[in-house]
Amino acid sequence: MKLHYYGHSCFLLETAGKKILFDPFITPNELAAHIDIDKIECDYILASHGHGDHIADLIAIAKRTGAKVVSVFELVNWCAAQDVDNGHPMNIGGAWDFDFGRVKMVNAVHSNSFPDGSYAGAPGGFVISNDEGCLYYAGDTALTTDMRLLAQQYKIDVAIMPIGGNFTMDAADALEAANFVNCDTIVGMHYDTFPWIKIDRDKALALFEKSHKRLILMDIGGATLELRK
Ligand code: NI
Ligand code: MN
Repeated sequence: MKLHYYGHSCFLLETAGKKILFDPFITPNELAAHIDIDKIECDYILASHGHGDHIADLIAIAKRTGAKVVSVFELVNWCAAQDVDNGHPMNIGGAWDFDFGRVKMVNAVHSNSFPDGSYAGAPGGFVISNDEGCLYYAGDTALTTDMRLLAQQYKIDVAIMPIGGNFTMDAADALEAANFVNCDTIVGMHYDTFPWIKIDRDKALALFEKSHKRLILMDIGGATLELRK
């Protein structure tokens, strides 16, 4: 598995010969001004929920690439209403075997609506598992004991978790979440993009180091992260 970062909660995962884009929010993100969305190729787009800071570029990228949109039922319908018909609707607790691996949509404790305020279904996260490894993408979420279930069902190799606080977990809660899911390698997301979620990076890194866990803060558009089992 290889991971690229496009800022905020947007990652591109390369696995089993496929490219999977998570939560495309790039063009409104000043920190990602150097990223050209027209250069992003993907086979799938996984969307955790309908807030603007997760789907701003979803329709444009889905239309250009023809990528299959995987998300909660209501979000896939919202795409279809905008002529993005290549969707795979799921819901919390359900799993499906795609050609790159198995995806389970899991609980996230958050709210959810589309930018116009309309109902967007339940917010979620995803567990992606195949021969190359197991990745947990938490989405926007609070710390929740539901995460303990993931440790019972999976051997998670890497977990992508929000660390910005205010709207989601902060680094301290993400550390607790890392214990819940029994994973030592955490990739941070949902921080620094807006004033409300600015973090002290050194403090967050030191917090994880003290607990002998690895917090990775990727550079936007920077080096690819190779994930191993
Ligand atoms: Ni959100
Ligand atoms: Mn968000």
